[in-house]
Amino acid sequence: MSNKNIIWHEHHVSKEERSSIKNQKPCILWFTGLSGSGKSTIANAVEAKLNEMQKHTYLLDGDNIRMGLNKGLGFSDEDRAENIRRIGEVAKLFVDSGLIVLSAFISPFQKERDSVRALVENGEFIEIFIDTPLEVCENRDPKGLYEKVRKGKIADFTGISSPYEAPQKAEIEIQTDTMSIESSVEKIMNYLKRNGYFRGE
Ligand code: ADX
Repeated sequence: MSNKNIIWHEHHVSKEERSSIKNQKPCILWFTGLSGSGKSTIANAVEAKLNEMQKHTYLLDGDNIRMGLNKGLGFSDEDRAENIRRIGEVAKLFVDSGLIVLSAFISPFQKERDSVRALVENGEFIEIFIDTPLEVCENRDPKGLYEKVRKGKIADFTGISSPYEAPQKAEIEIQTDTMSIESSVEKIMNYLKRNGYFRGE
């Protein structure tokens, strides 16, 4: 719904000014992967590392957002798309505030991930594929959800009864079945260093 009486206000402080005092180039580290793949674990570890380096961050995490902002959305294709759309808009605002945003959502569809990419400027969206095979996620089963799915207690479960489209052009790929958390974090940190996301070093 559009409203002609709502006028966009130009801010006086620019994104560049907000981020330069933080000594960083803002971006979204978009973690995608199956439930139990390790998205939240790695995103949390990367955030801890960035915080140690005095970088300014914010972590948006699947389960938490679904308890607040996106309460009421379920797991149909439409609800997942809306979930990601709202998160994309929130992440964009955080980027505008100069932060390095980390987001950990299954985000199973390429179309929605590409829509978030299109919301921000070139280089501000970094897709990170947490590439953990379904069998490994199912064996880990950190929340006991796969067991419930196999007992028929959860419908539309990603990777089993709902699709997951693996990224074809992710900036970073992490194989958690062969890589430790430390080396996964290092791979992501190196990417950020190499590509100029840190200033004043
Ligand atoms: S997304 O598909 O819309 O991106 P999101 O990351 O927000 O999903 O939420 C996924 C989390 O919700 C999972 O890690 C799991 O804990 C929980 N969950 C509950 N039901 C389902 C389901 N049917 N499919 C996937 N995850 C589910």
